[in-house]
Amino acid sequence: KIIVLDFGGQYNQLIARRVRECNVYAEVHPYTLSLDKIKEMNPKGIILTGGPNSVYDPESPSYTKELLSAGIPILGICYGAQLVAYLAGGKVATAPVSEYGKTETFIDAIDEESGVIGQVSISTSLIFENIKPVINSWMSHTDYIAELPEGFKVTAHTKDCPVAAMENEEKSIYAVQFHPEVMHSEQGQDILRNFVYNVCKCKGDWQMSSFVETTIEALREKIGKGRVLCALSGGVDSSVAAVLLSKAVGKQLTCVFVDHGLLRKDEGDEVEAIFGPNGNYELNFIRVNAKDRFYKKLEGEEDPERKRKIIGEEFIRVFEEEAKKIGAVDFLAQGTIYPDVIESGLGKSAVIKSHHNVGGLPDYVDFKEIVEPLRMLFKDEVRQAGLELGIPEYLVFRQPFPGPGLGVRIVGDITAEKVRIVQDADAIFREEVDAAVKDKRIKIAPNQYFAALSNMRSVGVMGDFRTYDYAVVLRAVCTSDFMTADCTEIPFEVLQRCMNRIINEVKGVNRVMWDLTSKPPGTIELL
Ligand code: XMP
Repeated sequence: KIIVLDFGGQYNQLIARRVRECNVYAEVHPYTLSLDKIKEMNPKGIILTGGPNSVYDPESPSYTKELLSAGIPILGICYGAQLVAYLAGGKVATAPVSEYGKTETFIDAIDEESGVIGQVSISTSLIFENIKPVINSWMSHTDYIAELPEGFKVTAHTKDCPVAAMENEEKSIYAVQFHPEVMHSEQGQDILRNFVYNVCKCKGDWQMSSFVETTIEALREKIGKGRVLCALSGGVDSSVAAVLLSKAVGKQLTCVFVDHGLLRKDEGDEVEAIFGPNGNYELNFIRVNAKDRFYKKLEGEEDPERKRKIIGEEFIRVFEEEAKKIGAVDFLAQGTIYPDVIESGLGKSAVIKSHHNVGGLPDYVDFKEIVEPLRMLFKDEVRQAGLELGIPEYLVFRQPFPGPGLGVRIVGDITAEKVRIVQDADAIFREEVDAAVKDKRIKIAPNQYFAALSNMRSVGVMGDFRTYDYAVVLRAVCTSDFMTADCTEIPFEVLQRCMNRIINEVKGVNRVMWDLTSKPPGTIELL
């Protein structure tokens, strides 16, 4: 495996992911991981990530110089590259010109004999094998390598950065100032592949199935005879986590599924059918029907953030009560995946919405340790793992559903009637969209599509009678990261059919609206 040592950059998990895409297992560890620990892990290579600091600032994360003589191949990226230069005795300084964004980068740039910067035929560097002589790479740095350390040679440069890449082939130490892991770096993936194949001599025989196997093994070892408690929501992440745990420790696991009454239509029963006593998995499944408690707590509350808080807190209270009945457990399992770690505001971005199911740890559950078997994976990797584990496809490819459920799709106060309306309208909309995607009437399938309820009632006429009913909002978005999103193009004919069906089949609705808003300025959910 490859170890990615995290120095605080933004793209660290992405580096690990890109390596895994080369069929080589990679995991991220903090830079505080000792060299002895690293050696115990016996990695084939180490990648040092970027980071926001300056290597010459004594407060900056650093590493022991011995890393460079440990005999393990190294690739330093951005800050990691500067750190390599610094530790190896080179000089790092503030660059006269900072580089941000796409930057023309010349490979194999210095003529070894004359020391003149300029392009030299084909690169002989192992990491630049089959890389074009000029590539657009993604830069983001204010410091640069000002002087090469001894034993290193320059292998790439840009207009403003004389050492855009350097290496000491004999010691298998490589460094690139740019970020090969981001999509904007041309042939970046090839450069990473060259590092893991040519330099680290990885075979590339890792598959998601090996992740599943090794994770099950590791969980077994970690948990031993201990008891595990898991909050199961029926979403992809917690389902995959629960199945991994059930395969690892079977009946030592208890899964609590809190039905807060804000799930999609029939969802509670579906989850129970898969994970309950009549399902396919060995786990102690407990469903708590807490609908009435939630509705009562939410009664009359119109403020979106307070609604979210109430749902999140009540969720934890219900979970705690169940946990108390079970008694002390050794581990609390969570389906946290990598993007949750960023979005939950561990970074410094402003709180747009307080996310439910991240950070909200129950206070009174008696447990010793948390296990998060999916913490290193991206969503699509979790899905792949789910398929490996034999979880039904419809569950694995289910669209994301927020923790607070329909609570964030009902504008204004929440009542049982409004929940029923949204559930029924949503079921119709999803059915119609799924059918239209299947027979290609919708060209680009939305990633998230649902019905919500505006708090607006308006006048209509149905069968010669005046109506004064709710307006349902339909929303479908395409997004790759859920941070930005565009409204999906749904043919008018499909929308019209949904409108007809919803008004005819769902009592209490006399108007259907289509939400065209992108994110930003809108968010995906209405609240
Ligand atoms: P927004 O509405 O912020 O949603 O554009 C972005 C994505 O996050 C989901 N979402 C949540 N997921 N707990 C979750 O687990 C939450 O509290 C929550 N709020 C929004 C939303 O469905 C979309 O996929």
